[in-house]
Amino acid sequence: MTDPAQAVEEQAPPRGCPAHAGGAIRLSGLEYQQTPSQLYRALRTEHGAVAPILLDGDIPAWLVLGYAEVSYVTGHDELFARDSRRWNQWPNIPADWPLMPFVGYQPSLLFTEGPEHQRRAGVVTEALEAVDQFELAHTCREIAEGLIDAFAGSGQAELMELYAHALPMRAVVQLCGMPVGATDTEDLVRDLRISLDAPEDDDPVAAYLRVQARIEQLVKEKRSTPGTDVTSRMLAHPAGLTDDEVVQDLITLIAAAQQPTANWICNSLRLLLTDDRFALNVSGGRLSVGQALNEVLWLDTPTQNFIGRWAVRDTQLAGRHIKAGDCLVLGFAAANTDPQIWPEGHVGAENSAHLSFSNGEHRCLYPGPLLADVIARTAVETLLERLPDVVLAVDPHELTWRPSIWMRGLTALPVSFTPVVQ
Ligand code: HEM
Repeated sequence: MTDPAQAVEEQAPPRGCPAHAGGAIRLSGLEYQQTPSQLYRALRTEHGAVAPILLDGDIPAWLVLGYAEVSYVTGHDELFARDSRRWNQWPNIPADWPLMPFVGYQPSLLFTEGPEHQRRAGVVTEALEAVDQFELAHTCREIAEGLIDAFAGSGQAELMELYAHALPMRAVVQLCGMPVGATDTEDLVRDLRISLDAPEDDDPVAAYLRVQARIEQLVKEKRSTPGTDVTSRMLAHPAGLTDDEVVQDLITLIAAAQQPTANWICNSLRLLLTDDRFALNVSGGRLSVGQALNEVLWLDTPTQNFIGRWAVRDTQLAGRHIKAGDCLVLGFAAANTDPQIWPEGHVGAENSAHLSFSNGEHRCLYPGPLLADVIARTAVETLLERLPDVVLAVDPHELTWRPSIWMRGLTALPVSFTPVVQ
């Protein structure tokens, strides 16, 4: 594959920094929410593989749209690093900036670099590797059954809230050792959603602080009474993380797991319920649930964009002068549908060479994709087994997407089915 940084030097004269580039596009608005792929196509046509964009409050950044370029950026930590304190825009960013909770530097594994990142990531990886996948599937099945029982008799349900979000949250909370009954998991789900989606009528910073308080309490409990859970394993790890470090990394872990997995479930259910290729699946089986899950990772990936990486020094990428401290947003959705890797226009391969779990040192930690697959697969299969005649309760065109530049997921997924007598 061509090295994008070198290929660039031979192209047209480099264009300006995002703060001064003409034609920078705001990544917001109804049109963007409904059909981001059209915006990515237009950006690619107008700007190439790296486009100037404006984040909330018209803060400039670069959106990396090309498959080769996203791979290059994520594979070169020495040039494009994770510590957001490098950002040259901090003087322009207000304290209550909506994207602050997950862009503002936190001393978690997400923002650490080099040997410190390896130390922190090693602890989380080992704690997750010890999760028994069969047990997790069993737990997810139980959670799914309980959630379905609650609405099966009514013949209708809004699956986003009642199922797709509720299931992975409960599964992850249970993995971390939080007794589901004793913890207000619904509050946690809501707070995580507020802090990630930053809706206008809610305070994302306050929501994030509430999440933090709940996790601090959990770590205190597990320090005094260890169990056989992810939190206890992290606390007992020989790397000797402090309680504060464990709190930070658990928040990262729960947020990193819950939101994308919930949207993966929802987007896969939408595909299964709206696409004729899957229509016979429930009763006769044409294309499988596994194929739907994989196709979503190519075409409707949950983490559609991720902020990001920050340039360590002045450099070039796809014809752009990137200045030290510039922010690069990783455009996973755009990269997965890059015409450079799909010259014949066919997207949705059987393989898993998509960038939905990112790439390089900071990619989704190794057991993450496996555990997410267990959770998502069990969620979708259990629902289809329990409600075999489930159909969408609205016209597919009436489904709306959430106003988030990070997450691709529906605001609601209303369905109907024959009521189940229990
Ligand atoms: C049980 C489910 C999951 C767990 C435990 C998990 C865990 C994690 C963790 C700990 C990180 C931080 C890695 C680091 O900075 O070193 C991460 C990052 C990430 N995860 Fe996952 N994850 C899960 C599900 C998913 C799913 C379903 C997706 C998308 C399909 C996803 C996509 C990502 C992406 C894009 C990143 C950012 C990587 C980067 O900065 O380059 N994850 N995940």
